Amino acid sequence: MTASFIPPRRILMGPGPSDVPQRVLDAMARPTIGHLDPAFVELMEQIKSMLRMAFRTNNALTFPVSAPGSAGMEMCFVNLVEPGDKVIVCRNGVFGGRMLENVKRCRGIPVVVDDAWGKPVDPDKVRDAFQAHPDARVLAFVHAETSTGAQSDAETLARIAQEYAALTIMDCVTSLGGTPVHVDAWGIDAAYSGSQKCLSCTPGLSPVSFSERAIARIRARATPVQSWFLDLTLVLGYWQSAGRRTYHHTAPVNPMYGLHEALVMLEEEGLENAWARHRAMHDRLKAGLDALGLEFVVEEGARLPQLNAIHVPTGVDEAAIRARLLAEFGLEIGAGLGDMAGRMWRIGLMGHSARPENVDACLRALAAVLGRG
Ligand SMILES: Cc1ncc(COP(=O)(O)O)c(C=O)c1O
Repeated sequence: MTASFIPPRRILMGPGPSDVPQRVLDAMARPTIGHLDPAFVELMEQIKSMLRMAFRTNNALTFPVSAPGSAGMEMCFVNLVEPGDKVIVCRNGVFGGRMLENVKRCRGIPVVVDDAWGKPVDPDKVRDAFQAHPDARVLAFVHAETSTGAQSDAETLARIAQEYAALTIMDCVTSLGGTPVHVDAWGIDAAYSGSQKCLSCTPGLSPVSFSERAIARIRARATPVQSWFLDLTLVLGYWQSAGRRTYHHTAPVNPMYGLHEALVMLEEEGLENAWARHRAMHDRLKAGLDALGLEFVVEEGARLPQLNAIHVPTGVDEAAIRARLLAEFGLEIGAGLGDMAGRMWRIGLMGHSARPENVDACLRALAAVLGRG
């Protein structure tokens, strides 16, 4: 007989998922009800409203996709990019590369703006790309590049797109709830995030938000959306006003309880206080890393407080250190991805993980395994 699975106790300080508060786990353990039950419909309305608070938007079409952040990404592209559409895609890490892959699979025409890994997207390059391709219909960029810990200037990038009447798709998987995201003030047309990072829910849900301009573009499509599940024109029927809900798919009921509780906690803390907490924990971590002689990959000013990319010191076996942190301290930190594999650690301070006791435990553990301090 196979025994029940009991996960080991971990402190999650990698690139996500982050620690999930007991309150959220308790909420998820409540009895399952039908996904068209009036009580569940009411819960969904509250989730939509709290997500508007988190995204700083009044967009009616704001809801959690029943699938992880990658599905939120794909929803934006399959709905907003038609075959032959030109899309300016900014690539300064892994997730910009995935955006590019989405554009290709939608049979759009990508115009790639490359920046070095660890650098923010350069707005001047984006402006040059629009000057060379004024017919581009969409600008796509990652606000918080989890693979490198760099934050780009979303407001400036969106403004450039607006000058050329292009729509913007913004990945805020790692930024939502951790650093300021202002969907309306910045004029973002499509934003997607993930439940498992600074919102501190379990993985598997992707909050998204679409502007009226984005909806108008979708309604004017000449071709049907190639994905049935992610076709917003169908999903709209399900997520639209409470009274007219029709069956589209069976919503993951208990994970939605969890997201609801995580958003209630965010409301209680206050969004701006949550941003300030992430910043304060970053400062605390930075002071300790400086003392250990460890250096950041990203220059000050473009650093994400919630994702701290650190150079692995010369001669140190990065995988062996991570393995010891996990085995001896129950602490998970992240490895480098792609070009940065073997050369970088990523220390996440996301959501419930961004607490003084975690920062201090991480610094003590690093000092011990590196034989420093
Ligand atoms: C910036 C960014 N975009 C997209 C994703 C994909 O999200 P998920 O792993 O939930 O599918 C991630 C996940 O780490 C991410 O960090």
